[in-house]
Amino acid sequence: MKLLAIETSCDETAAAVMERHEGEPLARTLSAVVASQVDLHEKYGGVYPEIASREHVVKILPVIAEALGAKDIVPGRLPTLDLSSIDAIAVTHGPGLIGSLLVGTQTAATLAALHNKPLLPVNHLAGHIYASFIDREEVEASPQFPLIAMIVSGGHTMLVRMKSHHDYELLGQTRDDAAGEAFDKVAKLIGLPYPGGPEISKLATRGNREAYNFPIGLAHEDALDFSFSGLKTAVLRQAQSEGVLTDKVKADLAASFERVAVDALLLKISKALDAYPVFDFILGGGVAANRHLRDRLAAMLAHRPVPVNLHVPPINLCTDNAEVIGAAALFGDIQPVKPTDLQTFSRLPLTMREIKSTI
Ligand code: KG4
Ligand code: ZN
Repeated sequence: MKLLAIETSCDETAAAVMERHEGEPLARTLSAVVASQVDLHEKYGGVYPEIASREHVVKILPVIAEALGAKDIVPGRLPTLDLSSIDAIAVTHGPGLIGSLLVGTQTAATLAALHNKPLLPVNHLAGHIYASFIDREEVEASPQFPLIAMIVSGGHTMLVRMKSHHDYELLGQTRDDAAGEAFDKVAKLIGLPYPGGPEISKLATRGNREAYNFPIGLAHEDALDFSFSGLKTAVLRQAQSEGVLTDKVKADLAASFERVAVDALLLKISKALDAYPVFDFILGGGVAANRHLRDRLAAMLAHRPVPVNLHVPPINLCTDNAEVIGAAALFGDIQPVKPTDLQTFSRLPLTMREIKSTI
């Protein structure tokens, strides 16, 4: 099975051709293209939804054409799209910015109708998990079920248990800000550019992680939920009480914030593993690109009484891309829909059995 995957849920226009043969434990990337809009949104300090959707309209066909190996990509002209070797089209249909998502879903539905291909709607959050089911040189073993997965992105922070492919049990999630949102907001308040996560991470390497002791949200609750708004407010208060933010203070704030944000994630991961012992753990989403989190999680999992295998994708598969959407679609259980029945959702729970077969 070989499919074309399309992702436009936020500010990356992405397409990929992915393949997996029946029974194979990992999907393979045949081609992948990502057009990032970071430069366009930087001056607004965050994603400007209307600009994002307009840019997707401009980029979507050239990006798909490049993923399909077209030779005639010229600005303003319709490229030749050869879908003859493609068995199906997968597309993110939520959650995300509705205007952005619609560009992807409408394009996918039109291509599916024109070329008579099955159309597979994919939950963006599933994509973040399935980043760990893509073959790469350094992958030693594929994730084994049952497993626990954590998605940490700009919009979500959640722990899920999976007993098999696409079988998701939500164990806990954030009650307010997502982890990535906290990184972005803290970055903004100490004057770092968008996107804040990588900037905080860079600055933190020069700061003292113990300079400030910020609170961990819901630390004493058994629930596997998270809260990051108190941490963000504590950093804001500390910054205000410092008055002038010297480079040293900024670096110390970034380092201490990053340490506590990671403490908060590790605390609930540990509790989840105590409650639901498994041998495999998947980390996915934009914040999974964070070096401090990756290193400390790897150390924590290796030192548990029964060591847990960590599956964490390379940086380019942590942030948004189409390979992971294709991978999610290649592991079955997503029913094709008629192009005219494809729905797009700004909010879409991972656990919703949202897709009914319509063909
Ligand atoms: O998964 P993603 O690309 O988009 C969403 O689905 O939300 O995640 C974007 C989030 C942003 O909040 C960004 O600041 C954060 O991931 N992020 C990071 C790092 N790289 C990206 N956060 C912390 N450290 C990083 N290195
Ligand atoms: Zn994402």
